[in-house]
Amino acid sequence: MSTAHRTAPGAARPRTPGYAPELDGRLALVTGAARGIGAAVVQALVTQGAHVLATDLDPAGVEQLAAEHPGQVTARPLDVTDAAAVEALLTESDRLLGPLDIVANVAGILRAAAVTELSDADWAATFAVNTGGVFHVSRAAARRMSERGSGSIVTVASNAAGVPRTGMAAYAASKAATVMFTKCLGLEVAGRGVRCNTVSPGSTLTDMQRACWGPGADDETAAARRVVEGDLATYRTGIPLGRIADPADVAEAVVFLASDRARHITLHDLYVDGGATLRA
Ligand SMILES: NC(=O)c1ccc[n+]([C@@H]2O[C@H](COP(=O)([O-])OP(=O)(O)OC[C@H]3O[C@@H](n4cnc5c(N)ncnc54)[C@H](O)[C@@H]3O)[C@@H](O)[C@H]2O)c1
Repeated sequence: MSTAHRTAPGAARPRTPGYAPELDGRLALVTGAARGIGAAVVQALVTQGAHVLATDLDPAGVEQLAAEHPGQVTARPLDVTDAAAVEALLTESDRLLGPLDIVANVAGILRAAAVTELSDADWAATFAVNTGGVFHVSRAAARRMSERGSGSIVTVASNAAGVPRTGMAAYAASKAATVMFTKCLGLEVAGRGVRCNTVSPGSTLTDMQRACWGPGADDETAAARRVVEGDLATYRTGIPLGRIADPADVAEAVVFLASDRARHITLHDLYVDGGATLRA
């Protein structure tokens, strides 16, 4: 790791005179950063001048991001289910990169199955990553941020946390637990200047979404259209705004909540789902 972000923030970004990226000099940790929404969050944070500690189970994916953004992205492998590894990485980061300003919990898994078919292993793995991982990372970050008196933790949950879905009980339950965990944490640390919020995406075009479409879905446009139009057989009403989200749509919301523009927002759950859940 290097301390480059303190001395040369935003080195890889073209500068417009008078333009000051809002996260210049900030250090952000992103989990699940190798692809999909996590990689888009890294990109958005870098664009705003942050130095990003990009982490994932998949080392190649985060190393690729570091190569694309020399001096602005530091890559590290991290399994968020491993509490000791999370603590060790944050200790290393404190020492080499300085204090942590922002956390984006993005790592997540979806093991789709009807409850009657769901295995113990899939239930446990889902909670280990989606809920336990967020707990490990948020706890380690909140300790440090509370001590320092500032920080922002943004957790990517899901709109499935708020509306029942077939074949997604473990996933939805894990995300609902994570939303409430984040609100309770936010309440505990609010007096110490730390904000905690969630972003709840709907269908977003990533590998996770494509996996939901199944191996037969070789026509991506048709599969996406079915999601947008809804499916009464599975009680889905479709997406009123008429499109599937890009990962960048979710990343924008994450970066907003992480930034000082959201300085008076905490315990919030920001839906980015094109109206899919009707916010009912
Ligand atoms: N894509 C969607 O439609 C959608 C909708 C709602 C919520 N989400 C949520 O957004 C987040 C990102 O999803 P995505 O669509 O980009 O998924 P994705 O499968 O494309 O990427 C997830 C990333 O998380 C990493 N990961 C998995 N387990 C990990 C672990 N134990 N430790 C560290 N990293 C791990 C994977 O290696 C991968 O790089 C997830 O939390 C997901 O639940 C996605």
